Amino acid sequence: MSFLSFDPQTISKKDLHQYVIGAVSPRPIALVSSQSEKGNFNLAPYSFFNAFSSSPPIMIFSANLIGQPAKQKDTLRNVTTHRECVINLVSYPIVRQMALCSVEFDADISEFTKSGLTMLDSEIISPPRVKEAVVQMECIVQDILALGNKAGAAQLVICRVVRFHVSKEIMDDDLRRIDPQKYHTVGRLGRTNYISVNGDNVFSVYQPVKLEPLGFDGLPEQLLRSKVFTGNDLTRFAALEYLPDITEIIEYAKKNHLPQHQENDYYHKMAKQKLKNDLPAEAIKIALYEGQ
Ligand SMILES: Cc1cc2nc3c(=O)[nH]c(=O)nc-3n(C[C@H](O)[C@H](O)[C@H](O)COP(=O)(O)O)c2cc1C
Repeated sequence: MSFLSFDPQTISKKDLHQYVIGAVSPRPIALVSSQSEKGNFNLAPYSFFNAFSSSPPIMIFSANLIGQPAKQKDTLRNVTTHRECVINLVSYPIVRQMALCSVEFDADISEFTKSGLTMLDSEIISPPRVKEAVVQMECIVQDILALGNKAGAAQLVICRVVRFHVSKEIMDDDLRRIDPQKYHTVGRLGRTNYISVNGDNVFSVYQPVKLEPLGFDGLPEQLLRSKVFTGNDLTRFAALEYLPDITEIIEYAKKNHLPQHQENDYYHKMAKQKLKNDLPAEAIKIALYEGQ
């Protein structure tokens, strides 16, 4: 790999912004509902956003200052004076309506009206939720951290969730966990690109928690040097608890009629197929078979 390496202070703010949003992606999108001093409701998307703690439940989004002289965006002004907001999570069915909310409308124009999204009363705070959002979090603004006072400078809004609303439609059958296939959340990438999370995009990664996995240092050179296996493939082997011994390997080969006297690559390709079928313990026996 060859790299473009640079000091972030030496490139334009615009280019740096694209590096940041292109690299740290996908990012979830908070569609933030807030209330102005006059009592108007505002709605705007923020993708410099994430969850930072579940105990207590803390979300942070960042609103940068704009214009010369630098001024606050409506959301930031609102949460500075009225320290409440609803963080509505953006999923695919509302992604285009969310984008419409990012237009810099005058403060007295409601993005709810412009985007066609529906206000739904919150239970604890006064800014409304977005009815169409499948996850809504009523928040108290705990702190606002200014990272500068010039145009572009980020202001971190630290929010504590006081009421959580999750649509039953996105839960699994026993209503205990959010099902990513039903959630269909979206993430923001660089430029104007987004990703929709569903179908084959969702996969699970085996996490060895209590086992004592072999690790890469426990794998034979023959596998580590293979041109067939990627880092992810080798990790499936490294996550196993033990290496099969020669007797097990030969028994497996006989029972499954593995062809004899082939090159290592031949067996490695067969093993890779087994990995695709989620059978790493079988795959390693094939990968280590030497056709004897
Ligand atoms: C998907 C998306 C993500 C955005 N993320 C941010 C962000 O993290 N920080 C920010 O200051 N502006 C962000 N923006 C731009 C704001 O939404 C935009 O400036 C908006 O007009 C602010 O509205 P407000 O003045 O009503 O708060 C984003 C826009 C879009 C479409």
